[in-house]
Amino acid sequence: MTRVLSGVQPSGDMHIGNYLGAFRSWVASQAEHDSFYCIVDLHALTSEHDRGTLADRTLAAAAVLLAVGLDPAQCTLFVQSHVPEHTQLAWLLECTATMGELRRMTQFKEKTRRATAEDPPASAADAAVEADAAVDADASASASASADAAASAAASAAVAVAVETDAAVGEASAAQPETAGSGRRAAEADERVRDASGAARVGLFTYPVLMAADILLYDADRVPVGDDQRQHLELARTLASRFNSRYGATFVVPQAAVPAVGARVMDLQDPTRKMSKSVSSPQGTVSVLDPPDVVRRKVRRAVTDTDREVRHDPDSKPGVSNLLELLAAATSGDPVELADRYQEYGALKDDVADALVELLRPVRARYDLVMADPGELRRVLTDGAGRARQVAAATLARASTHMGLLAAG
Ligand code: TYM
Repeated sequence: MTRVLSGVQPSGDMHIGNYLGAFRSWVASQAEHDSFYCIVDLHALTSEHDRGTLADRTLAAAAVLLAVGLDPAQCTLFVQSHVPEHTQLAWLLECTATMGELRRMTQFKEKTRRATAEDPPASAADAAVEADAAVDADASASASASADAAASAAASAAVAVAVETDAAVGEASAAQPETAGSGRRAAEADERVRDASGAARVGLFTYPVLMAADILLYDADRVPVGDDQRQHLELARTLASRFNSRYGATFVVPQAAVPAVGARVMDLQDPTRKMSKSVSSPQGTVSVLDPPDVVRRKVRRAVTDTDREVRHDPDSKPGVSNLLELLAAATSGDPVELADRYQEYGALKDDVADALVELLRPVRARYDLVMADPGELRRVLTDGAGRARQVAAATLARASTHMGLLAAG
């Protein structure tokens, strides 16, 4: 039977991007496949979090997942930190992954930049971006290399380029004509470039390895995710293959399952940016628990553009295209065909709002029911962790033995 695993961070309100990009496929999978779904609370520690609310957010995330239709009789729902094998396997995989591979992870670069973007002078931020781009340019040629030697060589090259680029940035700033202020500003800019990744938590850097452990522990064949997780999935595949070729057959090499429509829902206020839990854009983000009037207001105010043509063209009309994709995802339609039905944005927005309200109505109702019985929710998670551990412990033992560690006892 096909094994499925996926996860979600309890780091903010679940939104329609999570629902359309991931949760819907989770629900569809549970009847057919042996499915494991995980609230990845350890991942939520990789950036600033509120320790006073994390536990409640974890329970609320579980409640949302039951509300969208996960059924504990058909799938295993659990909390990542309740299964210590995740962090144990992550260590074995950290000793399999390379620095170069992790440096290439787009989400690390974006989140690092966002975390340090508050006050740096533009030149420092630009230099950091250029340094990353140089690493990317060099490394992308070998991104798909699966052979061990090739991957390691590419990784060393990427690290070497990173070091060289940092040095070049330093030299460039040192070569500026020295006025009183410019030398100091250049030195400050230099320091900020180093800080851009220097200040990031190590966990943010190694996060994709923990994610690979989440997946590989369960011998998952399929991993239903939104488009933004493709690169992380590629890393999980690379690590599984490398481990298998180095230490003998141990892991299943997983496949990403990304939906055809709804895999990348964009922010309603800034449709060039992905709708996200971690970016503060309450008006651009439709939570799965927003009441109907709030959903309608957010959709009505969605940013479009000044010409009035309804056309699916994500590059030149990102706002309208996002609305068409939302409608398509919510009604099982096709965004290009749907565009032909509309002559103006108002009617399209009304239909998107109606479709989302209908989609989310049962979710809100079920959420309230689930939250009314916290004891039952805890029981579901305890039971899920027990079932998850059985599978996870066997995989961890296999990986440890294949790596040559002495078995306990
Ligand atoms: P997270 O918590 O950011 O998102 C959960 C799922 O929702 C999808 N998603 C989206 N889909 C469409 N449009 C969007 N705007 C949108 N935003 C989010 C994500 O692709 C994801 O499928 N690293 C993961 C969590 C994770 C995981 C795992 C996933 C940890 N371990 C193992 C799969 C397997 C994350 O941060 O997802």
